[in-house]
Amino acid sequence: MILVTGGAGFIGANFVLNWLSSVSAEGVINLDKLTYAGNLANLQSLKNDSRHTFVHGDIGDKKLVNKLLAEHRPRAIINFAAESHVDRSIHGPTEFIQTNIVGTFNLLECAREYWGGLEHVEKDRFRFHHVSTDEVYGSLSLSDPAFKETKPYEPNSPYSASKAASDHLVRAWFHTYKLPVVTTNCSNNYGPYHFPEKLIPLVILNALAGKSLPVYGDGQQIRDWLYVGDHCSAISVVLDKGKLGETYNIGGWNEKTNLDVVNIICAILDELRPRSDGKPYSKQITFVADRPGHDLRYAIDARKIQKELGWRPAETFDTGIRKTVRWYLDNPDWVQGVVTGSYRDWLQKQYLI
Ligand code: NAD
Ligand code: DAU
Repeated sequence: MILVTGGAGFIGANFVLNWLSSVSAEGVINLDKLTYAGNLANLQSLKNDSRHTFVHGDIGDKKLVNKLLAEHRPRAIINFAAESHVDRSIHGPTEFIQTNIVGTFNLLECAREYWGGLEHVEKDRFRFHHVSTDEVYGSLSLSDPAFKETKPYEPNSPYSASKAASDHLVRAWFHTYKLPVVTTNCSNNYGPYHFPEKLIPLVILNALAGKSLPVYGDGQQIRDWLYVGDHCSAISVVLDKGKLGETYNIGGWNEKTNLDVVNIICAILDELRPRSDGKPYSKQITFVADRPGHDLRYAIDARKIQKELGWRPAETFDTGIRKTVRWYLDNPDWVQGVVTGSYRDWLQKQYLI
């Protein structure tokens, strides 16, 4: 049994689906608060899979987390739960501090108590895997080398500062209490079930809806894109073979400017679902005000995980982005639920919130 937190969100849900796609996989306890970013439709295909147990709750709820650990005795905790959107963190950082810092602190304390009570093999094999981001390293100039694990932290947004704080807590729990932790810092993900507040799904859905495609500033900022399935496989490898107390950068060697990404999506849509007027989707691109404190460039040096653990991504940006655009075209029900907000109806029915 493994305990996954935030497993109804974009990456967490992809991870749970990938994990359970192997018939011999251990069961998953999936603890998720179902914020606006949590969507049970992401897990619809597991409805009749008894290996998946969904628990609606907060990683900051000590009583609940202790109860889950005592009842299910997981051999690992994989912490995806977070507030993840930079723009939202700029508008209102409170929840970012609460979940990303205080929530992670709570999880660490619960894990420490639980792990302290384990014996022999169970104690030796237990892992706390913290899922983090490349944004903790700060921003690169065009000529800087890509982020290595040794790069000092220089977070610039409330989101990245909160993730950096959580990484530091995880590190300290290893050094002080010897809690068996591993941390992964990954670059920008894209793929199925990505909530359309983030650049790639937003552009796909706005393009199809005939809306403008908002590019912040001059669109020359660079992100290093990784297909979400590759992130999930990297996490499994680190969980299995990662050295305790170590951090591993995960990336796909796919640096692109935002404007290039938007143009690539437009070109794929021109081919797969041409506009009825025959004009290119790129006509919908609109340059809008820049994000405050917008980091210029992220780039991951992924040589450590490749050399030490043998992981490398399976997808290039070309193959991954094509798969992704197709997925959004092939899943209109999921899209409709998210666009209309009806994916939240279940919450209302179940919890009257
Ligand atoms: P997401 O916003 O899509 O999902 C987050 C999930 O966490 C949601 O299901 C939400 O309901 C849940 N959640 C939020 N607060 C919670 C709480 N207090 N208790 C329990 N559950 C809670 O995020 P994502 O893009 O899937 O990111 C997952 C993790 O990966 C995050 O930690 C993020 O920092 C990290 N990360 C994301 C990316 C990326 O490109 N999306 C890249 C690198 C790292
Ligand atoms: O680098 C990893 C991070 O990637 C994760 O830790 C975050 O959780 C994840 O949200 C993502 O952060 P970004 O801020 O890079 O992602 P976002 O999709 O919001 O933006 C990608 C780039 O596109 C960024 O430079 C801002 C720009 N952008 C974004 C939106 C939503 C636009 O130009 N227009 C937009 O409308």
